[in-house]
Amino acid sequence: MPFSNSGISKLRRQWITFEMSLRYGRWSVKKTLLGLTLMTVFGFLLFCIYHLTYSVELLPWNPSVDNWCEYEKVPEYMLLPAPDEITVVTMFLDLGVFKKGEEYFSYHSPYKYKRWMRTFGKMVNRVVAYMENDEHIEYFRKIRSCLPESHTKIIKIHRQELPSFNHLAQIQHIYSQPSYPKHYPNTIYPEYSCAMHAKYDVLQRSCVMDFFKTPYFAWVDVGLFRKLDDTDYPLFKLVPPDKFNPERIGFSQAWPQDPAIPPEYILKKKLVWVSGSMVLATKEYMLNFTRDYKMAVKELLDQGLSNTDQEVINAMYSAKMRKPNYIKIKTYMCHQGQLGLYGAESRYFCLGYVCKYAWEKRVPHVKDKLSVNAHSNR
Ligand SMILES: *[C@@H]1O[C@H](CO)[C@@H](O)[C@H](O)[C@H]1NC(C)=O
Repeated sequence: MPFSNSGISKLRRQWITFEMSLRYGRWSVKKTLLGLTLMTVFGFLLFCIYHLTYSVELLPWNPSVDNWCEYEKVPEYMLLPAPDEITVVTMFLDLGVFKKGEEYFSYHSPYKYKRWMRTFGKMVNRVVAYMENDEHIEYFRKIRSCLPESHTKIIKIHRQELPSFNHLAQIQHIYSQPSYPKHYPNTIYPEYSCAMHAKYDVLQRSCVMDFFKTPYFAWVDVGLFRKLDDTDYPLFKLVPPDKFNPERIGFSQAWPQDPAIPPEYILKKKLVWVSGSMVLATKEYMLNFTRDYKMAVKELLDQGLSNTDQEVINAMYSAKMRKPNYIKIKTYMCHQGQLGLYGAESRYFCLGYVCKYAWEKRVPHVKDKLSVNAHSNR
């Protein structure tokens, strides 16, 4: 059968050619393997670079700051102090890159915090900001440079001089015990816990100093308005929500509270009731709250318990720890989609947006006016 014979020999010849080329040709087995390995390594490198840039944001420069006053002016009525004006207190402590959450690549970096911080450039409240070094101070000044200078007070501090950092060694000791539950970053980095407690140090200090003579004070996390960052949003201001009872302290409610749960369980299981992203109260009530908070931190540390402010506050208001003179908490809950908030943001950041909305409601159509203004001058 000449036909099939020649067919078979043709195939054989092709196979031999292929085998020879694998052994000696341009794409020998060795070269192919080497090529595949190189491609895998290169792919992995690209993957890492992508995540370091966009998830971790490990970048050595500072995020660019929008100089919006080139095309927009702050309306006079926004600068006038309201009868219930809030002094906004914030702080930036550089904790380096640290793991936030349990997933791969969920890390926070100084660059990310600085990017979020940019939203303070459009917050027309009076702000007291605590920073540790001149580079951060200069960056924050740049962020606030479109607002009158008198609206910003930057205070240089060192973490060692914040009373909460006196607990560093004790917290370190608790977290180093193998049996203590590990939650990233809460019960891993003692500095992170100290930094969270330190919010109440600087809140207290700001209330005592009272630079702007305002009736209300609020802690606002650098990242609370992160959702707005890099989007075209109008200037905004925070005022207390409608009918805010001045004898309460306001928080966002992240999860329901069960006062029957003992403090030990709350701290070890990282059970959150209210969010630490924003704290709102009148000066007098804030002073009492910060004092009670610090005493609660000490009380828990003495029992070998440590976590962040969110767990401490949950424990403070549990049946076991709650004291009759504690300031009553008013919680704010946003449902999915309310005020543009979704997912964890609607649980953790509600109060911030309620305060922003309270001001928008007070000045009718101001939202439209401001955004029209922003667009037409572009
Ligand atoms: C704050 O604490 C002081 C001292 O314990 C107390 O006399 C005062 O009534 C408290 N104020 C409020 C508003 O609870």
